Amino acid sequence: MPRIALIPGDGIGPEIMEAAIPVLEALADKHNITLEMKLYEAGDETKKRRSTALPKETFDGVRSSDAALMVAVGETAKDVILPLRQKLNLYVNLRPAKSYPIPNAIKGFDVTIVRENTEGLYVKAGWSSEEAAVDLRIITRKSSERICRYGYKYAKENGKRKVYVVHKANVLLGCKLFREVCSSIAEDEGFEYREMYVDAAAMRLAMDRPFDLIITTNMPGDILADLAAAYIGGLGMYPSGNIGNEKALFEPVHGTAPDIAGKGIANPMATLLSAAMMFRWLNYEEVAADLERAIWKACELRYTTPDIGGGMKTSEVCASVRDLLMK
Ligand code: NAI
Ligand code: MG
Repeated sequence: MPRIALIPGDGIGPEIMEAAIPVLEALADKHNITLEMKLYEAGDETKKRRSTALPKETFDGVRSSDAALMVAVGETAKDVILPLRQKLNLYVNLRPAKSYPIPNAIKGFDVTIVRENTEGLYVKAGWSSEEAAVDLRIITRKSSERICRYGYKYAKENGKRKVYVVHKANVLLGCKLFREVCSSIAEDEGFEYREMYVDAAAMRLAMDRPFDLIITTNMPGDILADLAAAYIGGLGMYPSGNIGNEKALFEPVHGTAPDIAGKGIANPMATLLSAAMMFRWLNYEEVAADLERAIWKACELRYTTPDIGGGMKTSEVCASVRDLLMK
């Protein structure tokens, strides 16, 4: 019986979560699994009321659950997601960018980005004065090795052959170490070692996409992933997972979308696709595939929100996906 921690967060978070929960319940019902879902608070509103964006019971709730599903938190995102990633050792940021049948996606686009999630330029270490600012970038052998092994293992399990390690080793010392580690692991994992500089990879991502999967460090992965989002119809379609050896937290790549919050038109697909990733990680492959199939069908039928060419509300999209699950 999987125990799932749910974090709606701020902005469009609560409206998406409210609409998504019945979909998850219907899915669990159909596949005869008992889901124990529990809601936890975090984010800007929580901080206003309780002077912390990540209350202890939320952290403990995520830690003691089998997996977590979060929508998004606002300005306090770094106080919520960074501690969760770092303290729970969720060292993989898995971002599969795959196009669904919607008008603003490039047909057949399917590139997975495996991004190191705990170090690099996002360690928040450095110093600054009036005249200059320095950010430390930390790359360790240990973290490079585990993200690289995860990337190749995931590629193997998911039939992705064209795996590229993306870096800037001609300039950066950290990338030199990252490259050294990855190049020594590739063969061991049954892959030909392929690599590309990050600037070239950005162009090739936009142009001809020679890769199925990219393994890279923290900030390059963040930026390449948002570029990939542009080809699958935007952030409303992009799921992700923060994955460690024992725990994982799944969330759409998008934020709280303050410009559309409260209007009921937020796209719930990225959250539902994140839930599918969660079921797959929990070893419920059939459940994950079933949810993805229903989302695919909903897209085909244009049961979608305005950002991807439809005319439905968040709640109507979720109700349609739920109906399609029952067919
Ligand atoms: P954002 O992702 O919230 O919005 C960017 C654009 O995409 C907006 O025009 C928005 O309307 C649109 N969009 C995003 N999600 C959508 C959805 N589901 N359906 C339809 N349209 C959608 O990024 P932004 O504006 O840079 O950040 C807003 C807030 O979110 C900030 O406070 C930021 O700190 C936070 N944030 C939180 C993240 C997290 O919780 N992991 C990630 C990114 C941002
Ligand atoms: Mg980002």
